[in-house]
Amino acid sequence: MPRVFSGIKPTGPVQLGNLLGALRRWVDDQHTADSLYCVVDLHALTVPQDPDILRRTSEELARLLLAVGIDPDVATLFVQSHVPEHAELSWVMECTAAFGELRRMTQFKDKSDGADFVSGGLFTYPALMAADILLYDTDRVPVGDDQRQHLELARDLALRFNARYGDTFVVPEASIPTVAARVMDLQHPDRKMSKSEDSPQGTILVLEPIDDAVRKVRRAVTDNDGEVRYDPEHKPGVSNLLAILGACTDTDPATLAERYEQYGPLKADTAEAVAATLAPIQKRYAELAADPGHTAALLRQGAEKARAMAEPKMALVRQRLGLLARG
Ligand code: TYM
Repeated sequence: MPRVFSGIKPTGPVQLGNLLGALRRWVDDQHTADSLYCVVDLHALTVPQDPDILRRTSEELARLLLAVGIDPDVATLFVQSHVPEHAELSWVMECTAAFGELRRMTQFKDKSDGADFVSGGLFTYPALMAADILLYDTDRVPVGDDQRQHLELARDLALRFNARYGDTFVVPEASIPTVAARVMDLQHPDRKMSKSEDSPQGTILVLEPIDDAVRKVRRAVTDNDGEVRYDPEHKPGVSNLLAILGACTDTDPATLAERYEQYGPLKADTAEAVAATLAPIQKRYAELAADPGHTAALLRQGAEKARAMAEPKMALVRQRLGLLARG
């Protein structure tokens, strides 16, 4: 079976882009691959976090992954900091990556541009992400389009390490969806929907009241030419609605476009499809929240399974590097 790994940061509420671009495909992949899914709490530390909020957000995120349909009997669901090998391999990856390579990462440039404080971790973040992936001999990484460049780097680092020290890591491939790889903000369809972006009306949260989500879709920004056509470059707002509807109903957005002549019915159907996608997740989330100990116990088991894979891999890496054997 191929090995699949992916992660999500516990930094703010999960939004529709996370769900359609990544999480729903994690659920599909767990049945055809040996999959590991990770709440990447160490990645959240690149900007200062309130400890109580980070703790709560991490737990809620794990619960949401279960509510979306990750089955802990099939997949390995765990928290990054519970497996210390991630941080150890991250250092090795920092020493494998070139400074210039990390400096070229567009996400680093976007996030550091104009920021008051830029941590060293924000810069080396992609090395930790490569470590997450390479630690588990991952074949495939289901992510949204915004992670494409980080995945390229992970591949380059695996190849470079293998060339220097002998075959050690599997070279992973990004798995980016054909539809909804980049869900756009409903009010600013020229920028991606994001959990950290300050655009509450343009961002649909997976756990927000369904009526609010419906209202946001109905008020989505479109354009003035009145033609329904799937053309992300020239008609970003309308194409975003078609992509959301397509992802929620498993239909090709260009085919969907032929069914509509006006924006009103497209918005109504998209709102309905979003509501139908979110409602069962919210119901399951509420059930799981009634028993917090359950999620914590599952995460403990997940970490044990992950550690059983990470420990021998890291031992091999130490040996390859020439670090003295322990004891
Ligand atoms: P994060 O937490 O920002 O996002 C989690 C996943 O959601 C996808 N995504 C989107 N997809 C479509 N449209 C959008 N608007 C949208 N916004 C977010 C992201 O592409 C991602 O797949 N660096 C990663 C977390 C990470 C990771 C890893 C991922 C750490 N280590 C190892 C894969 C493998 C991140 O910040 O994702």
